[in-house]
Amino acid sequence: MPTSEAVHGEHRWDSVFAAIYDRMMSRGERLGMRERRRALVADATGRTLEIGAGTGANVDLYPDDLDELILAEPFAPMRRRLERKLQSSGRAARTIDATAEAIPLPESSLDTVVSTLVLCTVDFQRAALAEIARVLRPGGQLLFIEHVRSHSPRVARWQDRLQTPWRHFAAGCRCNRDTLAEIAAAGFSAQHERAVWQAVPPLVAPLVIGRAVVDR
Ligand SMILES: C[S@@+](CC[C@H](N)C(=O)[O-])C[C@H]1O[C@@H](n2cnc3c(N)ncnc32)[C@H](O)[C@@H]1O
Repeated sequence: MPTSEAVHGEHRWDSVFAAIYDRMMSRGERLGMRERRRALVADATGRTLEIGAGTGANVDLYPDDLDELILAEPFAPMRRRLERKLQSSGRAARTIDATAEAIPLPESSLDTVVSTLVLCTVDFQRAALAEIARVLRPGGQLLFIEHVRSHSPRVARWQDRLQTPWRHFAAGCRCNRDTLAEIAAAGFSAQHERAVWQAVPPLVAPLVIGRAVVDR
């Protein structure tokens, strides 16, 4: 499994990407994503881990009565911004330097895992989902908003064609992943809805939003 350092050397463009991330996202956030995040994380309960927490877009949206909030982010330039956001929000949470493929928490120790726009970027999606299943208690939930492979064959073909340049531009993001199928293959039962992410390129506009429970 990759270590967090292996996920990102401090490539210059990835650091720039972290620096401009909030500004790039802001229009889409205003046009619906922020409300989707709010509705999603309102269902977090108990001991909660957010993977790939980035700059902390969800930090101030969590319910106040969680037992614990842990924010994992493996890329230092993102994590620095996350820590600043956390301080300014006054939210009680701890940050950890960890990938989703190697979560440094015991088996069955969490009630909720949150993933927003992260399963597109992890290097090993199956390994990440197996790790999420491992750390969730039986009946624990994965709450997700992910952009995915399009249902439209024409758009999906463009996602396949452009996935390499897109990956370089978007700090490792794969635009053509069928993440919902992988969630099911990892042994989760998922309820989901589809939506369109506004104000982003069509390659990453198809969204799935939902809750998946480990079957074991
Ligand atoms: C598109 S950003 C999403 C950030 C945030 N979750 C959000 O909703 O705005 C993807 C994030 O996943 C992180 N990431 C990259 N590889 C990862 C991995 N293997 N495991 C966990 N997170 C990873 C990146 O550093 C980045 O912060």
